[in-house]
Amino acid sequence: MNFEGTPPKNLILIGFMGSGKSTVGRELHSRLGYELVDMDSVIEHREGRPITRIFEENGEEHFRNLETELLRELMADGHRKIISTGGGVIGREENRELLRKLGYVVWLQAPVDVIYERTSRNRERPLLQTENPVEKITTLLEKRKPWYEETAHLKVDTAGLDGGELAMGILESARYFFSNP
Ligand code: S3P
Repeated sequence: MNFEGTPPKNLILIGFMGSGKSTVGRELHSRLGYELVDMDSVIEHREGRPITRIFEENGEEHFRNLETELLRELMADGHRKIISTGGGVIGREENRELLRKLGYVVWLQAPVDVIYERTSRNRERPLLQTENPVEKITTLLEKRKPWYEETAHLKVDTAGLDGGELAMGILESARYFFSNP
């Protein structure tokens, strides 16, 4: 994890489904007052349909194109935003590069059992609607770990901490990062 050049002042949350990005994003938004951009919500709003339907009707690749488009727009859209991403955004090399250029990238980590517990409460995540979601989470997480690692400036273990505690820690290191890029 390293950083080249001076980043724009955005705070970007990456991590697997159910790692707490939305909760921490809201905490950071209320503490900093920066605009909160929840990428999944922006995409759903623009498309006028939930992500499950985007996957069903146009396939995952189409959804990934919408993610990349939104990241490109955010690059042209100025500073001081909290950007909460979807868990698979790091799958494309272009996205990983854009994320690092956008600002300070924080990887929220959670263990498989916690992810399963959180994501099994609803059917909003098309990739986990399978016979064996625990196995799917495990293999997908292993595949994605190097990409999270490569993209993040900060890795945060979320175990035992609530959204407020996580937000405080993130803000402290972000302050240091932005004053010593
Ligand atoms: C996905 C994660 C989801 C959403 C889509 C695909 C993934 O976002 O973008 O269902 O590939 O991990 P969350 O991480 O907010 O659940």
